[in-house]
Amino acid sequence: MAVRAVLRMGHPQLRRRANEVERPGDEALNALVGDMLETMEAAGGVGLAAPQIGVPLRVIVFGVQSDNPRYPDAPPVPRTVLVNPEITARGRDVRPEWEGCLSIPGMRGLVPRPERIRYRGLDANGQEVEGEARGFHARIIQHECDHLDGILYPDRIVNPEMFGFIEELKAAGLVAGDLPPEPAQPATGRG
Ligand code: NI
Repeated sequence: MAVRAVLRMGHPQLRRRANEVERPGDEALNALVGDMLETMEAAGGVGLAAPQIGVPLRVIVFGVQSDNPRYPDAPPVPRTVLVNPEITARGRDVRPEWEGCLSIPGMRGLVPRPERIRYRGLDANGQEVEGEARGFHARIIQHECDHLDGILYPDRIVNPEMFGFIEELKAAGLVAGDLPPEPAQPATGRG
């Protein structure tokens, strides 16, 4: 396993539709998932999609520990791997919430998303998984699935004034003052 470099917004690879994984459970997929989890954790992220490390496959990982410094108020979410994920909104409830992305360091934007979703996909071994998620958990899954279609969260911002550098948004009182600056991106790694 290795910490890989995370591509930043502007890199064309982040704008492509990723391909379905054809052979879930094989060794290459396991290695990819291992790298993704390690990269996510090293960067203090709550989710990562394979295209963010330059791999054009439909694989996402996510999980929130209760002490995550980038999202101190976020409820814990179990560490999850989803291969070829599909999501559908449940109900009509759409809520705006501040989002960040490891590919857009130092920034946050207010993004409306459905509050409740159903998701399904495969785990790293090719076993089917499905479930429901709401709130922050649902938001992460939607954000990561967007990456698989070349969509970044700024594309979904409705009010452009609600997008900017964390420090400025904090100074303006728009995001919580206790939100710490983003940790620097790990300098090591390949990809
Ligand atoms: Ni992201």
